[in-house]
Amino acid sequence: MPTDYSSLARQLASLLDDRDWLTNSAQTSAFIMHSVPDLNWAGFYLQRQPEQLSLGPFQGKPACHPIPFSQGVCGAAARSRDTQRVDDVHAIADHIACDADSRSELVVPILSGERLWGVLDLDSPLPARFTPTDQAGIERLVAVFVARSDLESDS
Ligand code: SME
Repeated sequence: MPTDYSSLARQLASLLDDRDWLTNSAQTSAFIMHSVPDLNWAGFYLQRQPEQLSLGPFQGKPACHPIPFSQGVCGAAARSRDTQRVDDVHAIADHIACDADSRSELVVPILSGERLWGVLDLDSPLPARFTPTDQAGIERLVAVFVARSDLESDS
């Protein structure tokens, strides 16, 4: 059965009842990991220094940190500010392999106004796991996270 992203967006909105981005990003990564099938990693990388992504709240195995904007699928999402949907990570020359099990990947940039705040990264052990429908659905969940969170607070 296809994932019902409308239902997930409603559930996530009611789960995020605090403005704190740290609490909300932890909750969002756990919610996605447990609600979207066939993932082996779901989490946030944050831009806390220029041109570099720092590992944030996530679910899955310990992951790579830091990631420069110049490298990997996450770096490409940060540079371009466009969602990166990769059917076969082995075909990407500078893919950063945090977990050898990962085969496909979806990375959605997260903006706070004009500023790149970070990215949401999802990995799957299945090749071509993410369809355009999944991309639109996950982008919708990111929009819920952004609307519910105070991304500029230091808390
Ligand atoms: N594969 C990513 C790195 C992050 S891990 O998948 C959690 C990349 O190439 O940017």
